Amino acid sequence: MADFHEFYPLRRHNTFGFDVRARLAAHIRTEADLLAALADPRAQGLPLVVLGGGSNVVLTGDLDALVLLMEIPGYAVVDDGDGWLVTAGAGENWHGLVGRTIADGLPGLENLALIPGTAGAAPIQNIGAYGVELRERFASLRAHDRQTGAFVTLDREQCAFGYRDSLFKRNGRDRYLITAVTLRLPKAWAPVLNYGELARELESVATPDAAQVRDAVVAIRSRKLPDPAQIGNAGSFFKNPVVDAALRNALLAAHPSLVSYPQPDGGYKLAAGWLIDQCGFKGFDDGPVGVYGKQALVLVHHGGGTGAALLKLADRIADTVQARFGVRIEPEPVIL
Ligand code: EPU
Repeated sequence: MADFHEFYPLRRHNTFGFDVRARLAAHIRTEADLLAALADPRAQGLPLVVLGGGSNVVLTGDLDALVLLMEIPGYAVVDDGDGWLVTAGAGENWHGLVGRTIADGLPGLENLALIPGTAGAAPIQNIGAYGVELRERFASLRAHDRQTGAFVTLDREQCAFGYRDSLFKRNGRDRYLITAVTLRLPKAWAPVLNYGELARELESVATPDAAQVRDAVVAIRSRKLPDPAQIGNAGSFFKNPVVDAALRNALLAAHPSLVSYPQPDGGYKLAAGWLIDQCGFKGFDDGPVGVYGKQALVLVHHGGGTGAALLKLADRIADTVQARFGVRIEPEPVIL
């Protein structure tokens, strides 16, 4: 029998801290729990929602759904010659996993330290920070395929990763339930320090090891990003928009302090935080929801507000940025 709870409060299962309920929720600690929950008569006809750490969702109201609280544990390391294959259960805390691999002498995930959420959620938005994206360390994942009822292994190609994007945000969205993720950490390791701020943070260290890089990333993130345990948030709320060179050059001519990064395809990624900041929203509060004072890309919930109010603010910000710069910024979290 699945471990079901009716009208289950989700406030502690989403890092924005929105106080909504699930019609039905189940704690999933094994793949057998998952199959039992899916087969349970009480779940039939209900849409499915999967929550890991709830760190990349906006819950706009009560969910008339079966919410699977993914808590599958697991950690295993296999030597594959010139690399280590690290398999983590979908429910493992991401930052905990980063720390464990470093403690075990397996460097490679240090730039992705302190990203909230679970290992199983990491591939969905292809988490990335400080010069590294998950896809560069990804080998495969295991998932339950709801279309065939079987468990499948999907490799990097099949996951179709893009910037804050993957198969699981597109046509695989309601199809695959991720139960484990396997990373590949090459034994030949060198620190990735191409992100200016990280290089500066480590200036005084001649040859930083993975733990030192991790500590530097933690220090930078702690300065700029709010701790969800203290202020409700889901990290960057908008993706950095990619525009063509003509638009970027025109914007740069009009705004010499524009922050942009060249892309392999000739386009430019613009810093959405800069665009929002220029529109005067940094530190702006609209009652219980607002824009973080140290990083304009982060929307915050101070308590007592709703996901709907947050989305209203997000729309207002996107409209203002569009009117001023002619660029539409898109939300990054999954909106439910
Ligand atoms: N900026 C401003 N004002 C602001 C915020 C930023 O002018 O209020 C400028 C900064 O001065 C900087 C530039 O914008 O020159 C970029 O800012 P930052 O280095 O903070 O990075 P970001 O582009 O805002 C992205 C990711 C973060 C990731 C950092 C570091 C996205 C959507 N966000 O932020 O990811 O940690 O780079 O790699 O790609 C997340 O996805 O939740 C997240 C936090």
